[in-house]
Amino acid sequence: MLENRIRREDLKGKIMSAAEAALFIEDEMTIATSGFTPSGYPKAVPLALAKRAEDGEKIGITLITGASVGDELDGALTRAGVLKRRFPYQTNKDSRNAINNGTVMYQDMHLSHVSQYIDYGFFGKIDVAIIEALAITEDGGIIPTTSVGISPQAVKNADKVIIEINTSQPMALEGVHDIYMTEKPPHRKPIPIENSGDRIGTTYIPCDPEKIVAIVVTDKPDKVRPLGAIDENSKKISEHIIKFLENEVKMGRLPQNLLPLQSGVGSVANAVLGGLVDSKFENLTCYTEVIQDSMFDLIDAGKVTVASGTSFTPSEEGLVRLLDNMEHYAKHCVLRPMEISNNPEVARRLGVIAMNTAIEVDIYGHVNSTNIMGSRMMNGLGGSGDFTRNAYLSIYTSVSTAKNGDISSIVPMVSHVDHTEHDVMVVVTEQGIADLRGLAPTEKARKIIDNCAHPDYRPMLHAYLEKALEKKTKHQPHVIGEALSWHERFLETGSMKMK
Ligand code: COA
Repeated sequence: MLENRIRREDLKGKIMSAAEAALFIEDEMTIATSGFTPSGYPKAVPLALAKRAEDGEKIGITLITGASVGDELDGALTRAGVLKRRFPYQTNKDSRNAINNGTVMYQDMHLSHVSQYIDYGFFGKIDVAIIEALAITEDGGIIPTTSVGISPQAVKNADKVIIEINTSQPMALEGVHDIYMTEKPPHRKPIPIENSGDRIGTTYIPCDPEKIVAIVVTDKPDKVRPLGAIDENSKKISEHIIKFLENEVKMGRLPQNLLPLQSGVGSVANAVLGGLVDSKFENLTCYTEVIQDSMFDLIDAGKVTVASGTSFTPSEEGLVRLLDNMEHYAKHCVLRPMEISNNPEVARRLGVIAMNTAIEVDIYGHVNSTNIMGSRMMNGLGGSGDFTRNAYLSIYTSVSTAKNGDISSIVPMVSHVDHTEHDVMVVVTEQGIADLRGLAPTEKARKIIDNCAHPDYRPMLHAYLEKALEKKTKHQPHVIGEALSWHERFLETGSMKMK
């Protein structure tokens, strides 16, 4: 079985246990790994590394990944005290708590920037790359598994490479990947992608076999995250978007089969995309970052012809479906390095329709996707900014209230800004949709309040706007002392509602 997985004879001598491979990692090293939204991340070596710390060894590392990874990496290393610095995105409960209590240093950044940061050494030198692989080719090329993320740049820049061959990953994944890397400016060339499904690179990550110091064989499956059920609110959000898109087609602003769709992470984004299954749209394409469960529904319904992303991001049930039918889905999917899946140049050229989820949106259209109550990091902004800023059409969705109605997702001023009024074109909640294109800030405010805010909060929001309009400057008026009082009230009383 390993014959097909390790196709270069001299590398077979590098097979060793996870514990032996983990010895290549030393205190204060910078480690870059494969993995993107708990898919395709190394599992055995990180667990062995955590064990060393649990056994009393002093070891702390900087960890760079594509995006979120499974508990064997983020969770285990956090609990063992190994994780000191973390870039660029996470969703693990323990690492989130460690970031929020200040024991892990974290920089939340646009995912399209990460490869360049690695190439230029902005994170420091990469000591070791740990890459989960389907197989190693005759030339030492690494065939990734269920995600690509930063793996090409990690391999290129690392002093040493450890490979985890994961035999639970089906060989039908071979051929799904399209690995293309950019040069540094001023030698960077246009990226020759004109359609979502264009293939411009190799099916493996080139790697100097001399760099490969260890190969570990494992069969641990991806520990993926559950997706929330598609509820009534998500369905309504999806219906508003579909109606809006149908009208855009009628107005001649979008072709019949739309433009390539990008859909963000999480339950709401998954539900929104899922709604398209019952729409009349056909021959859709996707140029996105994550390929969630609803994309499989769209492929099976014959609605989506091709989906380009950097990772498969299934739920637990979605993973079983994906692995059992990999040959089928592989025909419709391309996995690219995240530098390419999230590339501003390509998103702008293709005219992507970006649909991402907000934690909160303010009356002027600024969006917070990351920091609860302004300071508690949830996940990170991931690729949302890469797409929002460069899309043909950028849409933000959110349920109008959170925490049983005690929080309004539409607020006078967002408590943290990820995406600004200049980039956000459309806001949608279960209440309705606000098309902000061509509107001045106060016009945007009225539209967002009337169409998107929950009726319980509309009078309060209008009252805030009217009070702000009493000020001398009327372009984007605020009562600064009051702008964040809603968040303060929630923190003090447990509700944004006035008593
Ligand atoms: N204030 C406080 N908490 C809020 C909130 C608000 N205005 N809105 C949502 N929340 C909380 C929810 O209560 C929930 O908390 P819980 O986990 O304790 O139950 C949590 O945030 C997630 O909300 P949910 O409604 O389940 O949304 P989701 O699963 O669709 O995730 C984001 C929403 C914003 C967290 C998620 O989409 C995300 O991380 N986005 C940023 C990254 C991104 O957009 N990537 C896309 C790149 S392609």
